[in-house]
Amino acid sequence: MEEYRKIFRLVLPYWPRVVIAIAAGLVVSGLNASLAWLAKPAMDDVLIKKDARLLILLPLALFLIFLGRGIFTYCQEYLMQSASQKLVMHLRNGLYSRSLELPMGYFGKNSSGEMISKVINDVTALQNLLIYTVKDLFKESATALALLGVALWRRWDLTLISITVLPLALYSVGTLGKRMRRISKRAQEKISLITEFLNESYAGVKIIKAFCRQSAEAGRFEEITREYYRENMRATRVSQFAALIMEAVGGLGIAFVIWYGGRLIISGAMTAGDFTSFLTAIFLVYTPAKRLAQINIGIQQARPPLERVQKLLAEEGEKDGAVDLPPISRDIEFTDVSFSYPSAGQKALHGIDLKVSKGEIVAIVGKSGGGKTTLANLLPRFYLPTEGRISIDGVDISSATFASLRGQFGIVTQEVILFNDSIAANIAYAKPGAEQKEIVAAARAAYAHDFIVELPQGYETVIGERGMRLSGGQRQRLSIARAILKNPPILILDEATSSLDTASEMMVQKALENLMSNRTTFVIAHRLSTVKKADRILVLDKGRIEESGSHEELYAKGGRYKRLYDLQFSAQETAWTRPVAE
Ligand SMILES: Nc1ncnc2c1ncn2[C@@H]1O[C@H](COP(=O)(O)OP(=O)(O)OP(=O)(O)O)[C@@H](O)[C@H]1O
Ligand SMILES: [Mg+2]
Repeated sequence: MEEYRKIFRLVLPYWPRVVIAIAAGLVVSGLNASLAWLAKPAMDDVLIKKDARLLILLPLALFLIFLGRGIFTYCQEYLMQSASQKLVMHLRNGLYSRSLELPMGYFGKNSSGEMISKVINDVTALQNLLIYTVKDLFKESATALALLGVALWRRWDLTLISITVLPLALYSVGTLGKRMRRISKRAQEKISLITEFLNESYAGVKIIKAFCRQSAEAGRFEEITREYYRENMRATRVSQFAALIMEAVGGLGIAFVIWYGGRLIISGAMTAGDFTSFLTAIFLVYTPAKRLAQINIGIQQARPPLERVQKLLAEEGEKDGAVDLPPISRDIEFTDVSFSYPSAGQKALHGIDLKVSKGEIVAIVGKSGGGKTTLANLLPRFYLPTEGRISIDGVDISSATFASLRGQFGIVTQEVILFNDSIAANIAYAKPGAEQKEIVAAARAAYAHDFIVELPQGYETVIGERGMRLSGGQRQRLSIARAILKNPPILILDEATSSLDTASEMMVQKALENLMSNRTTFVIAHRLSTVKKADRILVLDKGRIEESGSHEELYAKGGRYKRLYDLQFSAQETAWTRPVAE
């Protein structure tokens, strides 16, 4: 019952369509029953009493009944389709916008393939359910009831005999339903795996080719699709077995009725017309009964996807704050901030205390995996600190609205993320209504203008998925232009110039320096030459701030920073000298 209630709650918003469709379905059921009803006059009056007037009326009535069935079926199908397609559309939209509200931690735990599968496959499974189930549930039960009514009216005793076998059928169908639910759950997991697999392998096709793993990957894929095939065949067996049981039970009932009714006719206890009418009704009633059995199985099958979809919809989103944070006027402060990623056990940051005044340029350096990107991730609240707090002008950023907080940051991420759209659209991503002039100015500032105008369609060039049609350095310059156009008070540059050649790097560096004036900036860089001019340098190691000060101070101190610095410069000189054989 619970499943039925859930499904009806799902279609509730579309009730006018569904109700009209169901009403049309009921008319079809009534017309079906009237066919059985007419079998008696056809037999008794036309064939046996040879009534000529009825011979005209009856075929006419039959034609009208068939025509009516056609028209009402059309209405019913049309309205049901429209309700279910609407449901699917709204469900997909809801899932997508909901998923974008989820915290970053959720995406760390759930693969994008899994999310895609929920939005596409699970929703499709529900759509099928809706079309075949809600519609048929009413139509078939009404048909069955109407036909049973006709049968009871004609011969109540025979009818009762013929339906004594039904409880047996219902019991076995109920048991099959439970099995179906388990199978469906596994099938849904398999299709999710397929989506995940495809998503990942197309994104990584270059590596598949580079390591000559094509046939291995194809083999892995075959394994998953074979398992999916198996689950589907299991589901088919169960649902067709239910149909088989209904056939067998139906056959048993009808055989018995014919034998018993035949005896009644032979002994003159019943007219042939009564018997034909009754028999037509019983014959017709087994089809809806069979459908009802399959509907029950179908509903069990739809339960797992429904649960997955509802679970995602019920997932708690990022909690928006209430305070409208004004643009930074004093400082950003970390107070004893520790952090561990939701999907990881150990801490990525330990007890960070840091105060950055407005306009200051802070460089963060240190070994790979030291927590630099993590520190930057906490500023726009992609994650909340596990301990401690971060405040801007004394306001805890966890109480600020996302719009007012994130609106203050311009971010150039370590992995450049661009969309498959035109260059202009990508640069203007943060400022949709931007004028062409502004876009060009931002591109010039990021030293991207020259390469853009050389492209065949200039600023209108579509750059492919994740900007694939551009070189790494070009992509990086676009992402810098995007941040420049946004013109934010706080900048986060995570390895922003790492993919550029030395000449472009120097130019972009200059552009960034212009940009940094009057802005609070966090620069993360491995190449220490690029951070020498920062007001303050933080050396981050294993999630702790090991050293902090200007380049001169830290160098003079002779600690970790000096070692890093010296190492880099000596490494640069020796990096490509051929190793000498001993
Ligand atoms: N999304 C994530 N989920 C779980 N753990 C993560 C995640 N991102 C990073 N980590 C872990 O947190 C630690 C710090 O990573 P972080 O990306 O901050 O390093 P980094 O200093 O930026 O390094 P790099 O210089 O290589 O970019 C690493 O040990 C890493 O394994
Ligand atoms: Mg990093």
